[in-house]
Amino acid sequence: MALRATRPLPSFTPDFDQPLSVFPGVGLGWFGQSALLAHRAGHDWAQRITATQVTHIDAATLCFHMRDDVAGLAVALTVRLDPTTDVLTLSTELRNCGDDVLDISWLAAGNVPLPPDAQTVRSYGGRHNIEFQPIDDPLTRSLWRRENRRGLTAHDCFPGAIVTCADGTAYGAQLAWSGNHVQQIDWIDDGRFQWQMGEWLAPGEVRLAPGAVVQTPDMLASCAADGANGIAWNFHRAIRARLDWPGGRMAPRPVHLNTWEGFYFDHDLDALKTLASSAADLGVERFVLDDGWFSGRKDDRRALGDWWPDAGKYPDGLAPLARHVTALGMDFGLWVEPEMVNPDSDLYRAHPDWALQIGGRPHITARNQLVLDLARDGVADYLFDQIARLLADLPIGYLKWDHNRDLTAAGATPLFRRQVLAAYALMDRLRRAFPHIEIEACAGGGGRIDAGIVRHSHRFWTSDCIDAVSRVAIQRGFLQFMPPEVMGAHVGTSPAHSTGRSQSMAMRAGVALPGHFGVELDVRQVTGGDRDALRAAIVRYKALRDRLHSGRVWMGEVEPGLVWQAHGTAEDMILLVTRTQPSSLRYPPQVRLPMALAGRSYIVSRDAAPDMRCDGGWLAQMGLPLPEMRGEEVLIYRVAAL
Ligand code: GLA
Repeated sequence: MALRATRPLPSFTPDFDQPLSVFPGVGLGWFGQSALLAHRAGHDWAQRITATQVTHIDAATLCFHMRDDVAGLAVALTVRLDPTTDVLTLSTELRNCGDDVLDISWLAAGNVPLPPDAQTVRSYGGRHNIEFQPIDDPLTRSLWRRENRRGLTAHDCFPGAIVTCADGTAYGAQLAWSGNHVQQIDWIDDGRFQWQMGEWLAPGEVRLAPGAVVQTPDMLASCAADGANGIAWNFHRAIRARLDWPGGRMAPRPVHLNTWEGFYFDHDLDALKTLASSAADLGVERFVLDDGWFSGRKDDRRALGDWWPDAGKYPDGLAPLARHVTALGMDFGLWVEPEMVNPDSDLYRAHPDWALQIGGRPHITARNQLVLDLARDGVADYLFDQIARLLADLPIGYLKWDHNRDLTAAGATPLFRRQVLAAYALMDRLRRAFPHIEIEACAGGGGRIDAGIVRHSHRFWTSDCIDAVSRVAIQRGFLQFMPPEVMGAHVGTSPAHSTGRSQSMAMRAGVALPGHFGVELDVRQVTGGDRDALRAAIVRYKALRDRLHSGRVWMGEVEPGLVWQAHGTAEDMILLVTRTQPSSLRYPPQVRLPMALAGRSYIVSRDAAPDMRCDGGWLAQMGLPLPEMRGEEVLIYRVAAL
């Protein structure tokens, strides 16, 4: 007898059993969340699969071909369990088999069960300058739901979460999508929960013609007995597998210099050349010319769309600067914000109709800019031509691709998802034409960080906040879902521009060390001891980057204001112990390293401090003794088994 046939029927229930399905429907006996909400002018709203066929695409991938012959739907749910990452990737394709338009308001990418002892869900939110702040909610019989309607991934709602069960097992999921999204966890009648993710669709956004198909983004889901650290490891491997590097593999992540906070819009060719020389002297490997270089761009009120060098700042174009940079042995990178236009620009004056807008409604600017309708005829071609000309004429190896506002009036009929797909397509088109280019995804810092854009880019600008103390939490949230090699992490000025707080060079460099390291300050002004410290930090980063960027990452908290993270393997790791506020404890606490192997002896070394020899079981159970630490400090250890 099939297991499901043994389940007793409760009272006050339809006279047949209705267990959780991979594609639950509405209206025909399932009272939980449906995977689909759709109708044809008020008809065919009730849906339930009438036939299913399961095929193997390969050893790791199943496809559930499902039909609802009454409502006229064909669904293909693809489920891939990657044995090398333990990550399940789900996506759903829906075909309208009826004779009329199917209006869709919800289509889950995936629908996965969670066990009854799932207790808490940690999601991440914040705002510009404070991304990835953890938000802990209990799981109860109430629906847990987070929605993002800002048109891009958004600072204030990362499309992913971690669920923790009573026994410490963790489940994680994230949606690979750079637009609007929904994540929801709903209690179901057998005490379990169902977890869905998908796009948030605006009214009328997906109206499927007869025969037409809509495809969801991927939902990545995983489970780990060792909790959130296990989920991070699974996601890191899955994201590494999604990354598409020029030449097929990641080159060591070069040290960046970014001009933004050092220069803002104030570009002076001679000063920038001296800056480049000073950066090269410090060991910088890539010089990224940020906003301010293009025609008329003297502040953030004008010129987006006019992608040619400003004749006043660069009378001979960007070539003299780019050549100076490459002659110093550095790669040259350039900032662009292709999806945007300022009303005060030649582009807007020539094509005011290219901005996303709703007739009869006012233009809503944000940072004085409007959003171009990328999928409209001519727009992507214009942008491709402008950027391709720069890439063809100059020795550019890198684009920092920004997106500095949310979407509002996204077309007379809502074009949110079309805009995301068009942005991906433009990136791909440029990368096909210039395969050596790497792209950094930025949206006012961390407004477009997700596993969707990972397929099209190679680095994230994690946050516009470079205050090292604030960065600690931001980066830890980031690392829950993304590997460290794509985490842009810079040494900024002190006091930090975003907070006004000051931190030592050692603190700033220590916090940036584990990510894709860079500097974002006027290094011409960095002299004396600070310059020596920055130079030494760059040397250290280069020595450690292969190890920092290839293995596992474990994270833990010892007490409020004292956290640690280890990168590498259980036999050999770089351990960073970071204090962000003075301790309330009289004696320094110990850092327990759960991954240390009992029975193995470890050598623990840190700069000039004498080496310590510790048993792995001791490190795991009792913990590494710490020296007294300053209120803000990063200790960098190597912990290696003999
Ligand atoms: C955004 C980015 C910054 C910088 C500015 C330029 O805010 O996050 O790093 O590039 O735009 O305008």
